[in-house]
Amino acid sequence: MKSFDFDTPVDRCDTASLKWERYGKKDIIPLWVADMDFRSPPAVIQALGRRVEHGVFGYGVAPNALTEVICEMLVRRHNWQVEPDHLVWLPGLVCGLNIACRSVGTKNDDVMTMVPIYPPFLSAPKNLKRELVTVPLKSGKTNWEIDFAALEDKITKKTRLLLFCNPQNPVGRVCNRQELDELVSICSKYDIIICSDEIHCDLILDSEKKHIPTATISSEAANSTITLMAPSKTFNIPGLGCSFAVISNNSLRNKFLQAMAGLVPYVNIFGFTATEAVYRDGWDWHADLLEYLRGNSRLVEKEIGAMKGLSMHHVEATYLAWIDARTIDEISPGRFLENFGLGLSEGSEFGFPGFVRLNFGCRRSLLQEALKRMKKAVAG
Ligand SMILES: Cc1ncc(COP(=O)(O)O)c(C=O)c1O
Repeated sequence: MKSFDFDTPVDRCDTASLKWERYGKKDIIPLWVADMDFRSPPAVIQALGRRVEHGVFGYGVAPNALTEVICEMLVRRHNWQVEPDHLVWLPGLVCGLNIACRSVGTKNDDVMTMVPIYPPFLSAPKNLKRELVTVPLKSGKTNWEIDFAALEDKITKKTRLLLFCNPQNPVGRVCNRQELDELVSICSKYDIIICSDEIHCDLILDSEKKHIPTATISSEAANSTITLMAPSKTFNIPGLGCSFAVISNNSLRNKFLQAMAGLVPYVNIFGFTATEAVYRDGWDWHADLLEYLRGNSRLVEKEIGAMKGLSMHHVEATYLAWIDARTIDEISPGRFLENFGLGLSEGSEFGFPGFVRLNFGCRRSLLQEALKRMKKAVAG
């Protein structure tokens, strides 16, 4: 029986919401930036309420209880034993991607990533004066695949870092053990550090798939991986800015910490409070959320599959659908769809023009209306 309500509309206008402010009063349904329209689990709302009631908001520090909850959660959910000292707190994972680029290699070194990809993967190397090298994913028979031959081909003596995303935003793939084995083996061969962004690891929709942290593949992987994680996507608390890196290699962790020094602010106290609450008490809500998202995902796959000129692969994880819209507009289908009242993310921002990303982390009725508009748009 469902205990949590994901259907009742929550008005997000005038709440300083990035997603909902973009189109203001225009009749455009915002299904772009990756946050969900759902209220957070009651556990977090109650914990924040208690913390606000306390009324003293001085500098914060991660409570030991929070570290314990995270280490316990990593064992229980991902079969990963992590030492508390290996955690590095971060106010956000975009920050983590940039710090990874700053802490590995030097100016003009190559940083690789696979496209399409969440846009900060493309900007972080440039921010740190590294050369960005992109390797396109392949659209296989049943889903997107890593092109290992192309990846290896593009490695040079200057390649120091791979920015990797699993589960993948935007294509929603979950890498299996063979894929991770192969990736780790290529990176070890060329002495490349892997920054593995696993922010979507608790949003697995396909019940046949399982998330495997890259760092658990082998001792080599553990030694050469910076893992980035957060409760923000899973429990819809990205505005509270609390995330963390796991780095078991002492020298790599020290470099990462040095690269943060003086630049990266502390995690704010509400972020710590919320993270402890959701990782301890948010899992019933999470189970219902996954069921709801599975329903949305089935609906999107069915409707898009039946629409003229559009196609997509099965979404294994995330609440994002990556839609091939090249027959609609090879350059900017997102702009075209805006004219029909849909606010999606443009593929070109992900290094892949002609596609759009649809965020289905919203109430079913809004999604149905969005899909109706999309059908009308493509019908011409
Ligand atoms: C793969 C990935 N990494 C990082 C982020 C953003 O992380 P943060 O909000 O913690 O900076 C997102 C948000 O969509 C994401 O999808």
